[in-house]
Amino acid sequence: MPNSDNIVVLISGRGSNLQAIHRAAVAEGWSARIAAVISNREAAGGLDYARAHGIDTAVLDHRAAPNREAFDAELAERIAAWRPCAVVLAGFMRVLSAGFVRRFDGRLINVHPSLLPAFPGLGTHRRALDAGVKWHGATVHLVTADLDHGPIVAQAVVPVHDDDDEARLAARVLEQEHRIFPPAVRALAEGRLRVDGLRVRVVPEATR
Ligand code: GRF
Repeated sequence: MPNSDNIVVLISGRGSNLQAIHRAAVAEGWSARIAAVISNREAAGGLDYARAHGIDTAVLDHRAAPNREAFDAELAERIAAWRPCAVVLAGFMRVLSAGFVRRFDGRLINVHPSLLPAFPGLGTHRRALDAGVKWHGATVHLVTADLDHGPIVAQAVVPVHDDDDEARLAARVLEQEHRIFPPAVRALAEGRLRVDGLRVRVVPEATR
């Protein structure tokens, strides 16, 4: 059970979303704080940022685990030790087992680089370009066992330009991820999300 203001962030890579969340938390004086960053990759750039900002870090290499369940079980134990109010998937490139998701049900939040339910899974920018869509974007959602299909907390839309390539489109989307992810994490950590099926209402701070 959560009984703290601890946020635990899971990463696999550069950690730009982690930075956006941390900056917002500090600048806005959130009651919750990022207590720990856990990566499944030692080389994840986000670990350097966390260490430089006095945040506890841990590396849990999935390749050292005998199977997905064993890795998820160990990861869950590490996370649970913080009794977190929110567990944030910020570019964590692992599919989590149903048991793991159940354990942190209602506290798990993810950012996905597409306008879900379009383009779940990997390679979203390439697939958006190949599909010829005129609009693309980012989605913040609560995590359920149904990959990339959890209740949507926030979305942002960007145009797809005729001369876009994957990198340009990804950069435009990432800017929006950094804008919509922090307030969604804050609302989750502060218990301001009301979930009704797949619909989520974010209760504004003042009327809590
Ligand atoms: C983001 O585009 C996120 O949507 C996706 O992986 C990327 C992570 O970027 N799941 P960063 O590590 O936060 O910079």
